[in-house]
Amino acid sequence: MINIALPKGRLGSRVLEFFENAGYVCPSIHENNRKLVFENEELGIRYFWVKPSDVAIYVERGAADIGVAGKDILLEYSPDVYELLNFGLGKCRMAVAAEKGARFDASQTLRVATKFPNIAKDYYRSKSVDIDIIKLNGSIELAPILGLSDVIVDIVETGTTLLENNLEPVETIVEISARLIANKSSFKFKNDEINALAKKLEELL
Ligand code: PRP
Repeated sequence: MINIALPKGRLGSRVLEFFENAGYVCPSIHENNRKLVFENEELGIRYFWVKPSDVAIYVERGAADIGVAGKDILLEYSPDVYELLNFGLGKCRMAVAAEKGARFDASQTLRVATKFPNIAKDYYRSKSVDIDIIKLNGSIELAPILGLSDVIVDIVETGTTLLENNLEPVETIVEISARLIANKSSFKFKNDEINALAKKLEELL
């Protein structure tokens, strides 16, 4: 049995489509109910829906053999997993943004609001810029508007949220997309099954 952690939500539905097109179908997952675990015994697969930011935890600890996680989560938490495939789905970028036309005094510590403190710290360390991290859990765009921070480090997909809040992207830190990840010991002990699955998915990309 291969245990597969799928990210709940829009990305998850598209990812599931990929798995099913690759032959890993599971009719019960399409029934409209609130179950979280779905099995196709014949094919030896078990899917479960988890919060997107939790997929890497399930896979790292072996509760799932494989899963699909955003590169943002992989960079932020550095889970000890293998990255097998870039789906190219859920494309967006991690960027620095600020109020339009904002200028900063280089002698002052830059206040950075973000859901991704490790990505932000690594980025500014590489530029030798001193920062003060303000960790938030959502609606990051509010921080510079209300004077809580100078800049934000956040995900930009269409750019609409920034635009509608009078903010602008200043620098791109890294491009993001969804990745197939595997638990390290599962990859060793279920190598044939996982490789066969990854290969079929790859053929569809
Ligand atoms: C993400 C991100 C931005 C927005 C960017 O937020 O944090 O706010 O999407 O998308 P856009 O460039 O297409 O406008 P999410 O929807 O995950 O909610 P959050 O603000 O609660 O983090």
